[in-house]
Amino acid sequence: MVKAVVLGAAGGIGQPLSLLLKISPLVDELSLFDVVNTPGVAADLSHIASPAVIDGQVAAKGDFKGEQAETEEAKKKALTGADIVIIPAGVPRKPGMTRDDLFKINAGIVKDLVVAIAKYAPKASIAIISNPVNSTVPIAAEVLKEAGVFDPKKLFGVTTLDVVRAETFVAGITGEKDPRKLTIPVVGGHSGNTIVPLFSQAKPSVKIPEDKLDALVNRVQFGGDEVVKAKDGLGSATLSMAYAGFRFTEALLKAAKGEKGIVEPTFVYLPGVEGGDEIQKITGTDFFSVPVELGPSGAEKAINILSGANDYEKKLLDEAVKGLKTNIETGVSFIKNPP
Ligand code: NAI
Repeated sequence: MVKAVVLGAAGGIGQPLSLLLKISPLVDELSLFDVVNTPGVAADLSHIASPAVIDGQVAAKGDFKGEQAETEEAKKKALTGADIVIIPAGVPRKPGMTRDDLFKINAGIVKDLVVAIAKYAPKASIAIISNPVNSTVPIAAEVLKEAGVFDPKKLFGVTTLDVVRAETFVAGITGEKDPRKLTIPVVGGHSGNTIVPLFSQAKPSVKIPEDKLDALVNRVQFGGDEVVKAKDGLGSATLSMAYAGFRFTEALLKAAKGEKGIVEPTFVYLPGVEGGDEIQKITGTDFFSVPVELGPSGAEKAINILSGANDYEKKLLDEAVKGLKTNIETGVSFIKNPP
């Protein structure tokens, strides 16, 4: 029996992601939590003729003592028995905002939710979508460490949307009709120039014309801005993100059931994952997104494809590392030296 939980389930990402989980044969039980509207979303999804049993929990409206207890109880009900918890809770970007601008609000939201996971589902895998991922994942790691339940093999920053975009944009250039046939590793972090597509490591190999390379890299790094601009103040990527979040969750669940050879890039704590030390020697950062082989215990092996980067990509990696170090530090100090 597999229980999946979505925290922030009533939002732009949360709703379509919950829909995909509800119809997935890999999920037996689906629990939704949000600060608003979860009962409606759960009631709606419950009419879909699929086996997953669904439950929706909502926080109390206010923050007085009794209401706090009610919210705590809702989190407890949603999380107890969870095998995997996916977090798309928080505010999205508006035009002109960077992902780091979201930190002030989302840092506290992610912290509180991970405190509840540590209490009610300490063994669950945690997939964090809430931005800025480069900082929210370190926040989660610190909270779990403080609670004494940190398992680095089970904490993931979801960077799959960057991979999905890279596959789509490259297919548009090479003429591949089905972008899913391409494996384009994207490494580093999940914002602007911390996102590094490694086209030299693509499988099957791809030839990007030199005059298109800069624009392609830029489009992978800032593809999210296209959506933010097009939505004109109504948020950022939700549908493509729900697809990407589901693709990553499916990979985790298939690997947990023993399927072999499942590899997805994801933002992990390098010192805690096999193979991570070697990568850390190159990046000098505690966290980095690299292709990770997934298995029953979670992140089984971080695969070092950075050594194969060409000179052009090495420069991109250097830039990425600079930005990432600051983002990671911001997340860690939010917990260690609370504002
Ligand atoms: P949204 O505003 O539509 O939905 C967020 C949901 O979180 C809302 O339903 C809200 O009520 C809920 N929420 C707020 N505080 C909460 C709390 N304390 N507990 C539980 N739920 C809470 O936003 P959207 O578009 O769904 O984006 C969510 C997050 O995902 C944003 O931080 C956004 O930047 C991020 N994102 C990440 C991507 C990635 O590639 N990792 C891609 C796109 C967005």
